[in-house]
Parts: sequence; structure tokens; C-alpha cells
Amino acid sequence: MKSLRYPSSLRLRFSLSLVFTFGLLVAEGRAQSAAPVTFTIEADKPVAKVSPLHYGLMTEEINHCYDGGLYAELVQNRVFKDSAQTPVHWSAVKSGDATAAIALDESKPLNDVLTTSLRLDATAVSDSGRAGVANDGYWGIPVKSDTRYRASFYAKAAAGFTGPVTIAIESDDGATVYARAEVPRLTADWQSYSVTLTTGMATPTDKARLVLTVNHPGTVWFNLVSLFPPTWNNRANGNRIDLMQLLADLHPRFLRFPGGNYLEGDTIATRFQWKKSIGPLTQRAGHPGCWEYRSSDGMGLLEFLEWCEDLKMEPLLAVFAGYSLKGEHVAGPGLEPFTQEALEEIEYVTGDVSTKWGARRAQDGHPAPFKLTYVEIGNEDWFDKSISYDSRFTQVHDAIIAKYPHLKCIASIGNEQPAKKRAHSRKPDAVDEHYYASADEFFTKSVDYYGKYDRKGPEIFVGEWAAHEDAKIRPWTKNARQQPPTPNLKVALGDAAFMTDMERNSDLVVMQCYAPLLVNVNPGAWQWRPDLIGYNALKSYGSPSYYAIQMFSRNVGDVILKGTFGGLPAGATAPLFYTVTKDTKTGVIYLKIVNPKGAPQPTVINVKDAGALAPTATALTLAGQPEDTNSLDEPTKVVPVASNVSGIAPAFTYTFPPYSITVLQLNAR
Ligand code: AHR
Repeated sequence: MKSLRYPSSLRLRFSLSLVFTFGLLVAEGRAQSAAPVTFTIEADKPVAKVSPLHYGLMTEEINHCYDGGLYAELVQNRVFKDSAQTPVHWSAVKSGDATAAIALDESKPLNDVLTTSLRLDATAVSDSGRAGVANDGYWGIPVKSDTRYRASFYAKAAAGFTGPVTIAIESDDGATVYARAEVPRLTADWQSYSVTLTTGMATPTDKARLVLTVNHPGTVWFNLVSLFPPTWNNRANGNRIDLMQLLADLHPRFLRFPGGNYLEGDTIATRFQWKKSIGPLTQRAGHPGCWEYRSSDGMGLLEFLEWCEDLKMEPLLAVFAGYSLKGEHVAGPGLEPFTQEALEEIEYVTGDVSTKWGARRAQDGHPAPFKLTYVEIGNEDWFDKSISYDSRFTQVHDAIIAKYPHLKCIASIGNEQPAKKRAHSRKPDAVDEHYYASADEFFTKSVDYYGKYDRKGPEIFVGEWAAHEDAKIRPWTKNARQQPPTPNLKVALGDAAFMTDMERNSDLVVMQCYAPLLVNVNPGAWQWRPDLIGYNALKSYGSPSYYAIQMFSRNVGDVILKGTFGGLPAGATAPLFYTVTKDTKTGVIYLKIVNPKGAPQPTVINVKDAGALAPTATALTLAGQPEDTNSLDEPTKVVPVASNVSGIAPAFTYTFPPYSITVLQLNAR
């Protein structure tokens, strides 16, 4: 047994397998082998370079991806704007003889941004009782042993009440207190208070809440009530550690943000307004999102950029381009203010501290500018029935290029959409293509899709793609919500097949990213399936598609090698999907094969002109039954298995297991 480098998040099982032996299912004798085929790799003839940015991430506020997801804030509705009628996610707490009433109150704003406060009227409170408010979090507050949480809030007391206020993390029923602290004194003016809440030994649970209570009668107003667990890199307004680890393990090279539909908003007024997403949280009221819930804007422009910094990704910034989902659009002079806003946004990202918005970024805590190469203009503008994208693209593109000639502009309408809708007055540097298709549709599409593209056209950015199980249940339909939020192995095979085509053509497909990335799997928390990574307040897991992407993105060279199938009946297409790349520094050849069928596929692999080929190789295999999947309860049912393979020679036979994705690492040094 030999230890191989692979992510900490995987439970690895190593086995020594010999070539000519079949995978596990075959060894059990369940399936008949298909007729052998040959596959020839031309090891010394790179056909093109692999784009160094090929594998990336795409995110937006959907499925409680940030709030109740990656953004680590645990209090839901912390500024009391999620509903104008009632303090949703808040409840009154009363014990003993105490009585308590809570209500939204606009008469005591914290400032001109956080204009709604939560009023607590506590009466008949005595030593034997308490009165207060409780927040139920994002489907619970996660409690873990020996963990330090940062709790903070703004409060103001009516005459006659001076404190104290107790703040605690406790079980839903109040019977167990996991951590508690006291703020001894309140005043008649708004003030901020922060404490550390530290748990002791505790059985992990998400059946918990945050409570703020008093034990004297009085009236108190609260605002911006916040609770953070430990975060990735200990950032104050930071990200959840387990989800960041899953993302880091994908080795992503770029991050497309902030959307997706979330960029556009249902209306122009509810688009992602970057200026309202920066600075102190007291200046962030949040805004109505387009996916059925309000966004806190805690994940703001600087947080996106710091997330990129933390995972060494390049930002791929999408700027609003005058079209919103419900059909509102502006062009010509009406688009001018938004074009200006986009230029300022780019300055916030890339400007040095001598620029207005670079200085603002420094004031927000990040003096160093960020590297930016690509800017996407809009999102899915083919939905604009007025067909105004060409003029809007031209206007925003020209303004960007006039000020930032080195930037590359991506058009949001690609070749999969009708030509009349696309930008044509200017040649985009790249076009964004989106593909949501069933696994079977991807099997058909992925034989040679991008190989047929014109290399003189714009670069291709596949900014959203994902397979799903059933062509009759598309991700955006209501029926999809009856299915599990994350996909099964069959879907991962469809994803992998499409990835072989994209990677084989990654001279052209310079970037690609799966969507959506994240899903809070609680009922009612999500709007779209399938998604790559699932979680609740306490736990998280990668879907089979997550592991397929991880296998691909972590095992890629810098040049594409030619591969050819042979031994096929006349006119037949190859039974396997493939891509071969080579790392010219290490000599490692990465052969990726997808077997979508239920029979093992013996394959004679010829490695031509590889020089000295090491006799052993490593195989990573993701295999199982098509319906197998991962979940919160079985997070690693379908994960890649690493094995050593011996008998590697210029011609050797390898049998690809049924329903499998395999990466063979051949050492050609
Ligand atoms: O990924 C989900 C949605 O699909 C995106 O918001 C949108 O761009 C696409 O239609």
C-alpha cells in the first residue's frame, strides 16, 4: 500500500490492482465485458495548450448559497428587513411569570440604512423568569464542542432600563445552554456590543437558537444582531470553513460572480448593487433577491474578492448591463449611469489607492488591488425580447476598453443562442455559453462538440453547465423540487463526458464552471437542482459530480495530446469519452476516460513516443450504480478510489469499469 496525495476531504481506499484485472463490479462477475477497443495516445505531439484558467467556480445567491451557506453569519434576518410585516425568524422568549412582546419598529432606526429595529417589551419579569428574543438561524444554529462564536448586536434601552442583557446559544426548547455571556449595561443611545460565546463539550447539533434576554422589566430595541462561528482564515465577516475546504479541494482557477440571475435582479432596482454591498455592515440593508428570498449583502464585492484571494482564484467580474429578469431594460443614454457604475466597480477591484474607488477599497480594509482579466457584460441577455443586447454590449464594452484596454470583455450570449440575439457590432473577446442538459443529452453532445468550433471566433467561456437525470424534469421546473437537491452518479457521468469535450478543446474553451455550486438542502431552502455541494447548518458533502470535477481539475497538464480510438466497427462511435493532457514539466500524462455503459470496457492503450514510460501508474476511479449518490447521511458513498496500476508499457490493456470515470496518471519521464 502506498500513500497518494489526495484531498483531506476524501476517505481514500487504496488497492493494488493489476492491469488485465477488472474493476470491483466486474470482479463480482455482474456484467459482461464489451468487445475490446484500442486507444492511441500521441505522447510527443501536443495539439494545443490547456488554458490555465480552464477550471473555475460560478456562484450567486440561490439555494441559500451565501446567506445560510458559505457566508458564515448564523443569524437569519439580522437587520429585520426580511419581512415588512413581522420579525420573521425571531420569536419572543418568556419563562416563569414573564411576559414579552416583540415587534418591528421603524420609529427607532439605527441609522438611515438600518431603519427597522426589533422592539422587545418585557413586563412582569422577576428573578424567577426571563423575557427576550430568539433567532432560529438558517434552519438551526450549529453547535459544536469547544468552539468560539463572535456574537454582536446594537441595542438601545427605553428610560428605566439599564440592563443587563444575557446572550446565549441554547437548545430549541431552552433546556440546554451551550454558551452564555452577559452585557452588563445598556444606555438610552444606540451602542454596539460584542462578546465571545464559547461552547464546552457538546454533541454537535443544529437544533439550537440564539437568545437575548433580560430579567428586569423594560423596553429594548435591537439591530444588526450577528453570530459568527470560526471562519476560513479567521476573517471577521468571513466564510464557513467546511464549505471553503470543499471548494479549495477543487483547485479552482477563477470565480465568476455575482451571477447569474442575481446580477440582473427581477427589476433594475433589485439588481446586485455593488456600492450597497461594501463597507461596514451597518451600511448594508440587503436587498430582495431574485430567488424567492432577501439577500443580506453580507457577501459583498470585497468579500467576493477576498474569497478569490483565499483560494488563489482570479475574479471574473460580471457587470450589470441594463437588463433585468422581468424584462426591464435600458439602452443608450439610459444605460450611461450603469456603464459608469461598472467602470467604478472595475476601479474598486483593480485601481490603486490613488484612484477614488481604489482608495475606498483601501478604506474598506484592502489596499492592494486585485488582478482582473475578464469582465462579463450582463447575464443570459438572450432573454431580452427587445433584442437590445448588441447595442448594450457595444456601449459597455467600448466604455470599458477606453479606460481599461487590457481587459477582455465576455458577451453573455454565446453560439448556442440564435445569431440575431448575439453581439455583432463588436467582436467579444469571449462568449458565455450555458448548457443544462440531461446526462443522456450530454453523452450525445460530447462526442465532438467543441472540436467543430471555429478557432478564429471568440474564446468560449462555458459559464454555466450541469447535467440532470431526466430530460422531462428540467432544473428550473417545479417538478425538480420533488427530487433530491444533488445529482446521482449517472449525472456525474454526463458531467464528466461533457468535461472531456471541454478539456480536449481547452485551447478554445478557456474557462468553464458548473452551476449552481451550492445548496442548503433543507426543505424550502433551495430553488434549483441539481447542485454540486449540499449542506445544512452543521454538515456538508460533495455530490458525485463534485468528485468528478475534482478528479478533472486536479489532474490536468498544460498541453493537450491527440488520442484516437480504433478497433471499432465501421461507422461506430467510440464507447468511451476521453481527454488526454500532459504536464510538460513533470512528464505526467493524464488520461481521463468516462465509461457511461453498464459493461466493463477492455481497452488496449498504445502510448506512442512517450520516451521512458514508468511501469506503474496511478488510477483514480469513481464508479458505482447509476442511481448511487451522496447525502448528508452518506457523504462519501460515491468518492474516487485511488489504486496503483502495474504493467504499464507502450501497449497495455486496461479495463474501464462499468459506469465509471477514470483518471490514469502515466509517468512518461
Ligand atoms: O444557475 C441557475 C440560473 O440558471 C442562473 O441564475 C441563470 O443565469 C441561469 O438561467
